[in-house]
Amino acid sequence: MKAVVQRRYGSAVLGDLDVPVPGKGEVLLEVRAAGVDMGVWHILTGRPYLLRILGFGFRAPKSVVPGRDVAGVVTEVGPGVTGFEVGDEVFGTCEGSFAEHAVAPVSRLARKPRNTSFTEAAAVPISGATALQGLRGVQPGQRVLVLGAGGGVGSYGVQIAKALGAHVTGVCSTRKVDLVRSLGADEVVDYTVADFTGTYDLILDCGGARPFSLLRKATTDRGRIVLVGAETGGAITGGFHKLMASPLLNLFSSKKFVPLMSAECADVFDELRALVEAEKVKAPVDKVFPLSEALDAIDHVYSRRSVGKTVVAI
Ligand SMILES: NC(=O)c1ccc[n+]([C@@H]2O[C@H](COP(=O)([O-])OP(=O)(O)OC[C@H]3O[C@@H](n4cnc5c(N)ncnc54)[C@H](OP(=O)(O)O)[C@@H]3O)[C@@H](O)[C@H]2O)c1
Repeated sequence: MKAVVQRRYGSAVLGDLDVPVPGKGEVLLEVRAAGVDMGVWHILTGRPYLLRILGFGFRAPKSVVPGRDVAGVVTEVGPGVTGFEVGDEVFGTCEGSFAEHAVAPVSRLARKPRNTSFTEAAAVPISGATALQGLRGVQPGQRVLVLGAGGGVGSYGVQIAKALGAHVTGVCSTRKVDLVRSLGADEVVDYTVADFTGTYDLILDCGGARPFSLLRKATTDRGRIVLVGAETGGAITGGFHKLMASPLLNLFSSKKFVPLMSAECADVFDELRALVEAEKVKAPVDKVFPLSEALDAIDHVYSRRSVGKTVVAI
């Protein structure tokens, strides 16, 4: 099969590999599309280095094929699998979706939403699941601020917060304003013109570029600042330094910083499928690249040119 092959950090090429064999609790997928998010860049480069200790591979990436978000068709079922059969159209996450075939654990798969293409479905799993988990507990009428609202997680954050009945303010740069408005944000702030004002019950911080003091000031008493991620840190901890600092910051305030580590699991993907089928959430696909240009797709996301989501179609 054709696949993006990554035998060491920092370099990958299009090559040929054997089709993988599904193990216990896994299925083989004919991959139709693979979503691209910042995580793919992190695993491709091995940066920040903290990732390497967190289980992604110390000297070289554990998975020879990059890509986690996946949408495709089940072509073989491994031992012990129930609930999925050959021909099922699914979406979720796996190791190595930048390939014609990939093995995926059924614990990270759900049925593809009926009303989406494979390309749209592949844009949902990681970003959608992260936004959904970051917004848990939001009540109707609450005020939610989404920083990085035109990016992967933020674009789902705006839609899911609206679906929960919140009043949503999305913050982004100029070229993402139209997208954020189209996703249903009540207010859109172009931070290149003027930064956001006001106070919020929940801030979903997907950009990571604002100081803690500003975030705290913009939060109501007992409000939450959910730290999703940042590309602002150095090579060692990257944006994790912000997440690691939160327990200390929470010592002296009723306004809580919440470091988010999103889980990739079938239940969450099922919730997302329901939201998509109810037309409360749509996949904001920006650009679609062929497998041969998967590295360009990653660069498109890394360089913040992606307006919404980027997908590799296979
Ligand atoms: N905690 C978790 O479980 C989890 C899960 C998924 C992702 N993440 C992390 O969360 C962050 C957001 O992920 P994403 O997929 O939404 O990324 P993305 O698609 O690149 O979106 C991030 C947005 O933040 C804005 N931004 C503002 N300042 C930035 C800066 N200094 N560097 C980069 N972007 C900046 C950009 O919008 P403008 O161009 O409009 O400024 C961009 O659209 C990433 O760091 C990612 O690694 C964490």
